[in-house]
Amino acid sequence: EAIEKGGFEHFMLKEIFEQPKSIADCMRGRLKAETGHLVLGGIREYAHKLDKAERIIIVACGTSWHAGLVAEYIFEDWCRIPVEVEYASEFRYRNPIINEGDIVIAISQSGETADTLAAIELAKSKGAIIFGVCNVVGSSIARLTHEGAYTHAGPEIGVASTKAFTAQLTVLGMMALKLGLRRGTLKESKFHELLVELESIPAKVEKALKSDSLIKKISEKFKDSKNFLYLGRGYNFPVALEGALKLKEISYIHAEGYPAAEMKHGPIALIDEEMPVVFIATQDSSYEKIVSNIQEVKARKGKVIAIVTEGDEIIPQMADYTIEVPATTEELMPLVSVIPLQLLSYHIAVMRDCNVDQPRNLAKSVTVE
Ligand code: G6P
Repeated sequence: EAIEKGGFEHFMLKEIFEQPKSIADCMRGRLKAETGHLVLGGIREYAHKLDKAERIIIVACGTSWHAGLVAEYIFEDWCRIPVEVEYASEFRYRNPIINEGDIVIAISQSGETADTLAAIELAKSKGAIIFGVCNVVGSSIARLTHEGAYTHAGPEIGVASTKAFTAQLTVLGMMALKLGLRRGTLKESKFHELLVELESIPAKVEKALKSDSLIKKISEKFKDSKNFLYLGRGYNFPVALEGALKLKEISYIHAEGYPAAEMKHGPIALIDEEMPVVFIATQDSSYEKIVSNIQEVKARKGKVIAIVTEGDEIIPQMADYTIEVPATTEELMPLVSVIPLQLLSYHIAVMRDCNVDQPRNLAKSVTVE
């Protein structure tokens, strides 16, 4: 087992550090910015169904559902297709409206999640076309879908998903780029810019990982906290949810993720000097708004840990702790901004003596309801 962990103390840490490679593997042979090449070999026969899609329904559970939320924003922005993101467990039991030819994208690391499988079966029985985004090759979901694209992240052993999430975002990003171009909703110049940007993500993730020792120090300060709040806006809102989920899963600290602007409708009541608030506050179209959200938290004596874009000079003056990540376009930022949150939950869990790779009551693949 020590050999499998490749010198890391836990599989989770190994998998976090593998991400520059796993994201690159996910793009290998599929994307080449220099020549404008973007091909997902698994999506051929049904590609024209996507071209004509009037709406997309995404079904998933857990971390995969968070990847679906990012995809919603991306598909709506680049492809101008309305997207609904559904918890598979809710979708399957609520008599959903599915029309012949509707597009369903099922996201699943394991490809075995019972609720996601059942949601696919239901949608398929009503004539929907199902695309899978799975990590495990030959898994049940991969076999049940019409077509799909594997994430090629390699085996993920840690129960808390890390590299599978970033690979899912990469695949979904490539799908949306291709579709946006085919539908004419994404300008060719923007398409090319985004290809270049996506190709640069592994190097940016590598850089984000360099904050590991800083994050370890910050973790020391907060390891005994009873609660955590994670706030983000826009593309970073699903990242806030994912950060909170990671902390809950492996450190057993109660954590909630919220869109930062919703804070005033409830969570703000929880803020006092005992409450750490993690802001995912990178420089994007909602930057100024999130700066004022940080001020609101500071005015109530909350402790702010901010994930910011490299070189930010404003937020570090307000936040108690800042962690920098390299700049990228806002649609791709989740690939980078999630990295410090994975590391934060990891270090806190280790300091609390938790079983990081196999947290209590959780399973890697949930094959029962
Ligand atoms: C379990 C795992 C999570 C995962 C979720 C969905 O809860 O512990 O890490 O996100 O299932 O799994 P899937 O394999 O469908 O992505």
